[in-house]
Amino acid sequence: MLSWDDYHNEEVLDTAAAAKAAAEQAAREAALEEAERQAALEHAAKLEAERQQAAKVEAVQAVQQPTQQSVSSETVAVDTDEMLERAAEAVANMDVAPGLEELEMGAARVSVDEKAMINCRADLNQLVPFKYDWAWQKYIDGCANHWMPQEINMTADVATWKSADTLSEDERRIVMRSLGYFSTADSLVANNLVLGIYRLITNPECRQYLLRQAFEEAIHTHAYQYCIESLGMDEGEVFNMYREIPSVAKKAAWSLSHTHSLSDPNFKTGTLESDQTLLRNLIGFYAVTEGIFFYCGFTQILSMGRRNKMTGVAEQFQYILRDESMHLNFGIDVINQIKLENPHLWTESFQKEVIQMLVEGTQIEIEYARDTMPRGVLGMNAAMMEEYLQFICNRRLAQLGLPEQFPGAQNPFPWMSEIMDLRKEKNFFETRVIEYQTGGALSWD
Ligand SMILES: [Fe+2]
Ligand SMILES: [Fe+2]
Repeated sequence: MLSWDDYHNEEVLDTAAAAKAAAEQAAREAALEEAERQAALEHAAKLEAERQQAAKVEAVQAVQQPTQQSVSSETVAVDTDEMLERAAEAVANMDVAPGLEELEMGAARVSVDEKAMINCRADLNQLVPFKYDWAWQKYIDGCANHWMPQEINMTADVATWKSADTLSEDERRIVMRSLGYFSTADSLVANNLVLGIYRLITNPECRQYLLRQAFEEAIHTHAYQYCIESLGMDEGEVFNMYREIPSVAKKAAWSLSHTHSLSDPNFKTGTLESDQTLLRNLIGFYAVTEGIFFYCGFTQILSMGRRNKMTGVAEQFQYILRDESMHLNFGIDVINQIKLENPHLWTESFQKEVIQMLVEGTQIEIEYARDTMPRGVLGMNAAMMEEYLQFICNRRLAQLGLPEQFPGAQNPFPWMSEIMDLRKEKNFFETRVIEYQTGGALSWD
């Protein structure tokens, strides 16, 4: 065993050997230090790689499950007893009046006479008692007509569209233009409904139908997208047509400019001027956009279906037309009811303005007919469509109680009215139709 003395003696006795050993030891230590430094660097690099990988996974999870992420990232310390005590106290002291807009607690129950189409101050959360039975009936009828785009077989259409010689250039142009216009028009319609009309029409029966209509508009946009996808069309070209093809752009621009107030969140009714603005916008929306702008495209595509071409697309359009004719009739009823309840809005100059709007809309649709039918096609031509649109315009004017502007205009396509009135069990193109009225019920047996 060595003592400090021994160590000293040995050191003294063998200084050279000690110096050599010390040098070797220092070299070993330096090598060890270097190895440790390298290992530390490698470890740090590994940790950094792991951290980056974890950050990537976290970012993906945050995108996929934002709610779960925010809930699980933090644990909130809760004193349950204290919480329960405070909840009981809040319920005991609760004042039920605030939050139930303009409701007076203990006030008389809503009576039918208090209900109104616009500017109504009665409770909008109570559907009954009914005042506007026609609106409720349209809601019931709309639900009974339920359909979905995927139920329609598109196989024959895909083969027709892909074959080089089954459709003429003019027929292909009609399919493209129709899908181009309608694919964006129905989104515009849906936006106006949910962002404007729903807020401004102040009775729950009409709002109930508007909710149904809004869903139908979503189905229509779905149907157009389903056709575009099935046929493998260039989506960018179709969805941008309302900005790139003048005859389509004019229709979209007219609708936007004449329904602008509906979706302005600051727009309020309650004065002669603003109530007239609402009425003007409703006429632009229902009587012109849904009542005139849809008719050239519908007629062309349905005529194609009657000739056994693109029958899947035509059947989608047939269902859409049935929905749209109900939207139009609802809109006309809404407009006429507002007129009835607010006769001071329906001035002579306002009537002239409305007539002007309808004639202008008809002219825009006639231009669209000329652009989409430079020659005769599908047993029709632009001149026939012009007369049909004048006939349609006369009908819209008559429905609004205004004088017809195209005396003697006849309907060159009587089969269109037949299709519009078609009940769903009468299957025009002999394809399967789901019976929602009875087939939608669940059985627990
Ligand atoms: Fe629609
Ligand atoms: Fe519609």
